[in-house]
Amino acid sequence: MRDKRSDALLAWYDRQARDLPWRAPPGSEQAADPYRVWLSEVMLQQTTVAAVKDYFARFTEKWPRVQDLAAAEDAEVMAAWAGLGYYARARNLLKCARVVAHDLGGVFPDTEDGLRALPGIGPYTAAAIAAIAFQRPAVVVDGNVERVMSRLAAIEVPLPTSKPLIRDVAAAMTPQDRPGDHAQAVMDLGATICTPRSPACILCPLSADCAARAAGIAADLPRKLPK
Ligand code: ADE
Repeated sequence: MRDKRSDALLAWYDRQARDLPWRAPPGSEQAADPYRVWLSEVMLQQTTVAAVKDYFARFTEKWPRVQDLAAAEDAEVMAAWAGLGYYARARNLLKCARVVAHDLGGVFPDTEDGLRALPGIGPYTAAAIAAIAFQRPAVVVDGNVERVMSRLAAIEVPLPTSKPLIRDVAAAMTPQDRPGDHAQAVMDLGATICTPRSPACILCPLSADCAARAAGIAADLPRKLPK
């Protein structure tokens, strides 16, 4: 059975999903390409969607498949990455492409554990790829998701103490069917409506189910322990 909040969110996503170049075409039965999903998720680790778009287009034009990227010169990849920052990501990207191309026959692992074993893929990225590229009901939690879940359940315990609680809320909401769309719907909601300041609750497909909105504290959550 699907969580009714996930139903509302997916219906919203079907109407409002951002048209992003690593996603399968909206409404298509076509699965997203694991190489493109992996590349986008690594690029998006510390960088906004707006900044990533052009880099993603350049990389996929130059290196359309993981084998192409694996065969690139290190310097060429580092030059193409210039401007995105966090250069360890680019070095791990190349390492990962070479493991997949040379040791795994060009095929990305289709489980969270298999993905986690690759260079540069941490828990968030493994869950995101497993859900988006392989339809695994992985629980995908990044900063955006933490904010959305904290508000939905009105979690007043501050971050990072609240992390296990947030994960439980996210897990309870994750559908067995369409987990990748669900994960990306939460990301889109966090980026466009359930924003850190002045959330646009009036436009939110989950406002009727949002405990923070009911309590009038949506904009105050998540609370954070002073660093
Ligand atoms: N941020 C990280 N991954 C994303 C995705 N697949 N879609 C939108 N925003 C994201």
